[in-house]
Amino acid sequence: MLELACGTGIWTEQLLPWADSLTALDGSSEMLALNRARLGTAAVRYIQADLFHWQPGERYDVVFFGFWLSHVPPERFAAFWQLVRSCLAPGGRVFFVDSRHEPTSTAADHRLPEPAATVLTRRLNDGREFQIYKVFHDPVVLTERLRGLGWQFTIRQTDHYFVHGSGS
Ligand SMILES: C[S@@+](CC[C@H](N)C(=O)[O-])C[C@H]1O[C@@H](n2cnc3c(N)ncnc32)[C@H](O)[C@@H]1O
Repeated sequence: MLELACGTGIWTEQLLPWADSLTALDGSSEMLALNRARLGTAAVRYIQADLFHWQPGERYDVVFFGFWLSHVPPERFAAFWQLVRSCLAPGGRVFFVDSRHEPTSTAADHRLPEPAATVLTRRLNDGREFQIYKVFHDPVVLTERLRGLGWQFTIRQTDHYFVHGSGS
């Protein structure tokens, strides 16, 4: 299995029992350190890389990404999915989970922009503000877009917070 944008390991921990081998990638050395500390096992192979410039050295049966797709800039959408394709072995599968556009899911002092917006402001505890990409994908639209790129996906959402998809 390959986990893209693994972050602190919330999902890495869940994937590990299901994987014969697990590779977790993130661009941030701090995230990878937190992930390592959480998992505390040599069973996970870690890669630090920028997903927009990385190419896989091998193929995987499963590619997973949690709360990453919404941060892929719209103009990089197709290239990202091409990367996912290049990560997969024949018959390989993809699973992702991400956030729905839900006002109560964001910090109390943050304002959620309109669903169609692709950029929002994140304010840190020290007051600094950053503009980040955050694309809220509609399941029906996303399924069709992926079909157009050659993917077969089933995408569902939970009552409030999550959208998740599995495909090949
Ligand atoms: C919203 S977090 C999700 C982390 C984790 N998947 C989770 O659900 O807890 C996004 C992650 O993407 C990583 N990231 C951001 N830009 C990246 C890039 N260009 N290449 C690789 N990782 C990147 C960040 O370091 C962060 O760990």
